[in-house]
Amino acid sequence: MTISLSEFQQRRDRLLAQCEPNSICIIAASSLVTRSNDTEYPFRQNSDFWYLTGFNEPNSFLILSNSTLSQSNVITPGAENKTASIIFVEPSDEHAEIWHGRRLGVNSAAKKLGTDLALDVDDIDEELVDIIDGHQHIYFSLDAESRVESTISIALAECRNAPKQSKVAPSIVHDIQPILHAMRLVKSDGELSIMQRAADISAMAHVRAMLFSQTGKFEYQLEAEIHHEFAMQGARYPAYGTIVGSGDNACILHYTENSGQLSSGDLVLIDAGCELEGYAADITRTFPVNGKFSPAQKQLYQLVLDSQEAALDKLKPGNTISQAMQACVRVIVEGLINLGVLSGSVDANIQQETWRKFFMHGLGHWLGLDVHDVGIYKINDIDRPLEIGMVMTVEPGLYIPVSASVDDKFKGIGIRIEDDIVISAHGNHIMTSKVPKAVNEIEALMAK
Ligand code: GLY
Ligand code: MN
Ligand code: MN
Repeated sequence: MTISLSEFQQRRDRLLAQCEPNSICIIAASSLVTRSNDTEYPFRQNSDFWYLTGFNEPNSFLILSNSTLSQSNVITPGAENKTASIIFVEPSDEHAEIWHGRRLGVNSAAKKLGTDLALDVDDIDEELVDIIDGHQHIYFSLDAESRVESTISIALAECRNAPKQSKVAPSIVHDIQPILHAMRLVKSDGELSIMQRAADISAMAHVRAMLFSQTGKFEYQLEAEIHHEFAMQGARYPAYGTIVGSGDNACILHYTENSGQLSSGDLVLIDAGCELEGYAADITRTFPVNGKFSPAQKQLYQLVLDSQEAALDKLKPGNTISQAMQACVRVIVEGLINLGVLSGSVDANIQQETWRKFFMHGLGHWLGLDVHDVGIYKINDIDRPLEIGMVMTVEPGLYIPVSASVDDKFKGIGIRIEDDIVISAHGNHIMTSKVPKAVNEIEALMAK
């Protein structure tokens, strides 16, 4: 289950087809980041670079051109001469490879990655001047790290300063992100099958944590169970920092300390998803430490679940996330008034946004190579309609602070229920349904 070489090539062609004629595109890989002294964080490829290459080495550059290349260019394009692709990679190096790991190397890179040419990244400063020469437009990420920015500005400056050698530097700079990120927003069948597997693995991990839960265990021990299941199922890393919050730790939205001890009578909120082939899953479940919801916990939990159901009903092609959020909020507000947490009319509470004290984040986000995936949510300030193949999370929550002026039985309860969906012709498909979420399903599983 991997993305095929031809899909990577098609993505590069689709990108170039959306650029102005006579364009050059530069997409850079990530580099290693120091953790402390001489050790590094595990390498994570830049998502845009990964999307176009599937190549997992640092410091590489992908260069794409849709122009007929001038004489001075180092590329010898094929007979069609329509587009060209170059990958700059780290060269084979016996010493570096003994110490730090294998490299694909210049000789194998073009064939393996399906580019027209592979070059040594150590030579990029000289080569890039010739490569960009003669193109009118240049595209790169305007958010690029300074290392990448400086490689590009040096090449541009040298090209501009070499008119005597008849060089013509690109004169129009574009941000590549809008084109690339619109492509990434709608998933292919290949991407969806990887994401479904990531969702299935993450669901198994949540089930494992529910079965493991017991008074006296520590939050980080549930985290360890989750990560163990990810790895045993073939997904080595989580897609983001795993959140395990018991008791009122669940009210801290991005709690990753995970150091608390589970108490009987508390709920525990787990927000965890694995990364598979670069793609993220993102699931939250909230369940009782001892396997049985108290009446107050059950009331709030059922309310969040009903609000998610109301949102899911609206998430279909042509509708917007805002429409789903409105449906979700109406259910939350009606429920909070019924429980005595809010008072007054439903419409007045919606209008005054009183619910935001207890539900302070959005309904969800795009999901893909990044957990908070790329793609804009509004076009010309108008909510973007959903399309078949978009993947997003649906994650309503209620977080009642200990300090809130509400009945004591609700204080310190934090609940979020988060599923991943893909928009389909019929509405949506829930990718994360293999982990239980109804009160009776959770209680039945945990009774095992
Ligand atoms: N896990 C981060 C989020 O749910 O957005
Ligand atoms: Mn999440
Ligand atoms: Mn999320």
